[in-house]
Amino acid sequence: MKSMAEIKREVGDGKAVSACSGGVDSTVASCLAQKAIGDRLTVIYVDDGMRREGEPEAVVSMLRGFGMRVRILDAGDEFFKSLKGKIDAEEKRLAFRHTFYSVLGNEVKRVGADYLIQGTIAADVVETAGGVKTQHNVLEQIGVDTRQFGFKLLEPLKDLYKPQVRAVARELGLPEDVSEKMPFPGPGLCIRVLGEVTPERVEILRKATKIIEEETSMLPAFQRFAVLHSDRATGVRDGKRSYGYIITLRLVESEDAMTARAVEVPYYLLKRISKRVFDEIPEVSRCLYDITDKPPATIEFE
Ligand code: XMP
Repeated sequence: MKSMAEIKREVGDGKAVSACSGGVDSTVASCLAQKAIGDRLTVIYVDDGMRREGEPEAVVSMLRGFGMRVRILDAGDEFFKSLKGKIDAEEKRLAFRHTFYSVLGNEVKRVGADYLIQGTIAADVVETAGGVKTQHNVLEQIGVDTRQFGFKLLEPLKDLYKPQVRAVARELGLPEDVSEKMPFPGPGLCIRVLGEVTPERVEILRKATKIIEEETSMLPAFQRFAVLHSDRATGVRDGKRSYGYIITLRLVESEDAMTARAVEVPYYLLKRISKRVFDEIPEVSRCLYDITDKPPATIEFE
């Protein structure tokens, strides 16, 4: 395959690091790199503190199952520090991106590699260059020089769109868990915590995310998730007035994320999910369901 030959040619006898979140794009890119340069590849999983419950452990064990040499970097504190006080969505994405590449840059140096391989796809580049939003993994196409982070970038999938990447995943023999995986944004829960991102607020969202994923697993959806609002709402708990967090639940159907339809979730199921949210997350006083399609909304809130 053309991209494997390109990785071989570029890296030569040297070493490379690949950043893998376990999503289809970065897993395919890492697999291609593994096939191209074997043991000279180190796969890095950055635990940025913004992942879903149990996700870092599950992803790392899956990648090791594919025979990859994976290092997990526990970098949550650095990410929370860089996000402190930031409330604007784009500012948060930029802070996330800067920390992400600083952490990876250190690792590239530590293993003595020259290259960072990542799974940027064509849609990431189009959206960022078009000013729709700053995808955290788009750098050179918008003029960010990666030498400041100490590596050269290799992006074997940058000309492919999602359906083509899924086709490559199937061709590589990756399991359906990977090839058909639900998209999850690179900056993770940090763009679903509206307003300031703190460990406490991420933890609340993590619990709500788990509940909606568990309770709706039988409903087909392109993405299913929860969002934590920046404002609060009045509620009543144990006969006393409370002033708690607001959670919005969102399920959308879509083919390519360019347009999307809100899923018609049965009312009994919404009630069941909200009951679990109130029972299991006492800090929450209100639970909403988002019925907005894309357009006029986007899929994410930020
Ligand atoms: P929107 O919200 O623009 O999302 O309708 C379209 C698709 O992109 C995902 N998304 C992101 N993915 N970094 C990512 O890697 C981001 O900053 C980001 N923002 C949105 C979103 O989940 C949906 O699949």
